[in-house]
Amino acid sequence: MVRRMKTGEFKIVAELLRRMSGEQEQTLGKATATSPERAMVMAHEVFVAEGEGALVGACLASAGADGTGEVSWVFVEAGWRRRGLGQKLVEAAMAYLAVDRQCKAVRVYVVEGNKVAEKLYETLGFRRMGSVWEVRS
Ligand SMILES: CC(C)(COP(=O)(O)OP(=O)(O)OC[C@H]1O[C@@H](n2cnc3c(N)ncnc32)[C@H](O)[C@@H]1OP(=O)(O)O)[C@@H](O)C(=O)NCCC(=O)NCCS
Repeated sequence: MVRRMKTGEFKIVAELLRRMSGEQEQTLGKATATSPERAMVMAHEVFVAEGEGALVGACLASAGADGTGEVSWVFVEAGWRRRGLGQKLVEAAMAYLAVDRQCKAVRVYVVEGNKVAEKLYETLGFRRMGSVWEVRS
């Protein structure tokens, strides 16, 4: 199940996203410049994926002043992948940005070489514009 994060879950989600940051650094050689805590505070909404009562995935959504939204820090724990949670997280963030924030377009930054993420965003209708992927409503 995918839903909005509750306030009391901040620390658990920050830990989850710290694991994402570590994994990206290991597999793609790219460290994130921002801490998960800072990214979460800066975001307008945090979405989480639940699996067997635990939080196993998350993503952040932010709306820019120009009507473009951004989805970032999309992560699903390794043991929970390929069950549709990543897609559901991004879809929840996209729906929030379109409906609650009136965004006309949504962007996501994909690190060069992250083929799994590219496939996921392609599936959801995003198109590549360099390292930024965009979908318009
Ligand atoms: C990217 C990520 C969030 C996908 O999560 P997930 O829950 O496995 O994704 P889903 O099960 O919803 O898969 C959705 C689609 O993405 C694509 N996809 C996901 N994993 C894939 C893989 N290992 N190989 C190829 N395509 C894959 C497929 O198109 C898939 O649809 P399908 O299963 O119907 O073929 C997860 O792999 C992850 O956390 N990776 C590390 C962090 C990361 O790279 N985040 C993206 C930052 S931009």
